[in-house]
Amino acid sequence: MIDKTTIVANWKMNPPSLKEAKKLYAATKKAAVGARGVRVVVAPPAVFLSPLAKGRRGRNAAFAVQNAHFEKSGAHTGEISYAQAKDTGVAYAIIGHAERRAAGEMNDDVRKKVAAALTSGVVPIICIGEKERSDSGEYFGVVKEQLHSAYTNVPQKRIASTLVAYEPVWAIGAEEAMKPNDMQEMVIFIRKCIAEMYAPAQVSTFPMILYGGAIDAGNARDMLAQGDIGGFLVGRSSTNIKKVTALFNALR
Ligand code: PGA
Repeated sequence: MIDKTTIVANWKMNPPSLKEAKKLYAATKKAAVGARGVRVVVAPPAVFLSPLAKGRRGRNAAFAVQNAHFEKSGAHTGEISYAQAKDTGVAYAIIGHAERRAAGEMNDDVRKKVAAALTSGVVPIICIGEKERSDSGEYFGVVKEQLHSAYTNVPQKRIASTLVAYEPVWAIGAEEAMKPNDMQEMVIFIRKCIAEMYAPAQVSTFPMILYGGAIDAGNARDMLAQGDIGGFLVGRSSTNIKKVTALFNALR
């Protein structure tokens, strides 16, 4: 399992060409090597995976697929499988990102994808997070349901082969990230939710928890120090060479 600070660079549908993807990847890897103790997991658009992963994996860098289908093969036009992703050099899979959930992906799909990823030997990065917050705290219920569904088919011995990316939807693409002490509270809650699914609960089996949503060079250090997290899932700050370099420099 990963003991370094983990940065998942979610490129989403960027950049526009393979040439630029190669440049961005080279800059990302360079920045990651400079920041010791940091490991980067790059999640490029699937069409760029093969050319990027070819001969370019290393101790500080790994690849993730942004999405895949839970079936092994078959008539699923436009889809790729976890086994195919693994074959191109992918070690991780982002599952249930808020943007996919907004496009119709349900907790049930996430559950199936988590199980399929594990079967193919791909580490699932399970994205959870509420759309909005109110003082009455309903968002805890949303998070609990997402976790309980995602971990339904995960045996206790595989918990450590999963990651949780808590991304409050209201912070994704926003100006400001969540407050580190609110993240710390959420981390405790996430561990509690997972613990209650497995008996007897063993602290050593908790997944690494990442935070995502408006992370940049200015707020990453505080969040890492106070949020009780293992790293970040980063969108905008991962697709711009200046920003990604600044982010890793901030974590040196
Ligand atoms: P952001 O996106 O860093 O641009 O807010 C995060 C995400 O969507 O995972």
